[in-house]
Amino acid sequence: MRTWVVIASTDRAESVRRTLRTRGLLRKDLRATRSGKEVAFPVRSAPQPSLEETRIEEREVAGQSRPARTYRELLHLPPNQQALLPRAFDVLGELVLVRLPPELRPHATEIGAALLAFVPGARRVGWDSGVHGEARLRGLTPLAGSGPWRTLHRENGLEFLVDPEVAYFSPRLAREHARVSAQVGRGETVWDLCCGIGPFTLTIARRGVASRLLAVDANPAAIALLRENAMRLGVAARIEVRNESLDKFLPAAGSVDRVILNLPHEGIKYLPSVSAAVASGGTVHYYEVTPRTDHSMRGTALVGQLASPTEWTCVEARRVHPYSPQADVMAFTFHRR
Ligand SMILES: C[S@@+](CC[C@H](N)C(=O)[O-])C[C@H]1O[C@@H](n2cnc3c(N)ncnc32)[C@H](O)[C@@H]1O
Repeated sequence: MRTWVVIASTDRAESVRRTLRTRGLLRKDLRATRSGKEVAFPVRSAPQPSLEETRIEEREVAGQSRPARTYRELLHLPPNQQALLPRAFDVLGELVLVRLPPELRPHATEIGAALLAFVPGARRVGWDSGVHGEARLRGLTPLAGSGPWRTLHRENGLEFLVDPEVAYFSPRLAREHARVSAQVGRGETVWDLCCGIGPFTLTIARRGVASRLLAVDANPAAIALLRENAMRLGVAARIEVRNESLDKFLPAAGSVDRVILNLPHEGIKYLPSVSAAVASGGTVHYYEVTPRTDHSMRGTALVGQLASPTEWTCVEARRVHPYSPQADVMAFTFHRR
């Protein structure tokens, strides 16, 4: 690999290395090499001003000394910006979605290229500016790679067709999809409200124990993907699908054994009517963004929002994933006597 190197005598090498690192010029993906009484440091560009008692040359050096452990090792931003690089990112099939602070906007393309190089099998990288609007769609800005946002994502042994441009999907819910599915008992009726592309429904359908499985979402693109996924997985006959708002669905819905209500910011307004529809012995899985300071009390407070509160107990409150520095997405399970 051809690169610029800064060459220093061995007695100056440590101080030169420190200066190059502080200025964000040192290439971490290539190893410094020693020859005789000199050390050559691979750099991204020539130091300005140049360093005393060093010289710079372009030369061929051996490739990566070891695979990068994080995508951040592939980047050499000025130190104050390097420190802002997020540790986490989402992998959705062949897509990599990353949330960046606004200060990193000038480096967004470089960051995209580093993620594309780092994540095995990545085809396209997008800047994820969070979910918005009723359909909870992600703001996506292409950073690197090519092709459509539509991709095949694997979780819990199932392959889902997802398209974050038109329908919500989060790989951070994989454990929830499996956990809730495992609790469905034989012969139960189940509603998956705000089902998106249907990961809860499809995971439950694969088990084949529910007597009736009904999935509802207001976004037609999400419902279209759910239908396509159900066909691909061979479970379409086990699922009823409704493309409508809960405002229309709930008043005429009848009775059910288990409900999944995953609309973390607004689901609260449907909780009374959802709980009224649940039969004795039934269960509600309710998702919410909860401030960290309220974790311990929130389950009991929510029971007060359910229809006939004295018949309900909060049997579980679990943290699903962090939402912000102060709040988490939480899963609450309520059981009706
Ligand atoms: C957080 S996503 C949940 C996705 C899904 N449960 C999952 O695990 O991937 C919320 C979904 O609720 C749908 N939605 C929002 N408001 C709705 C409403 N009033 N009635 C029905 N669906 C709604 C959105 O279209 C979106 O697909």
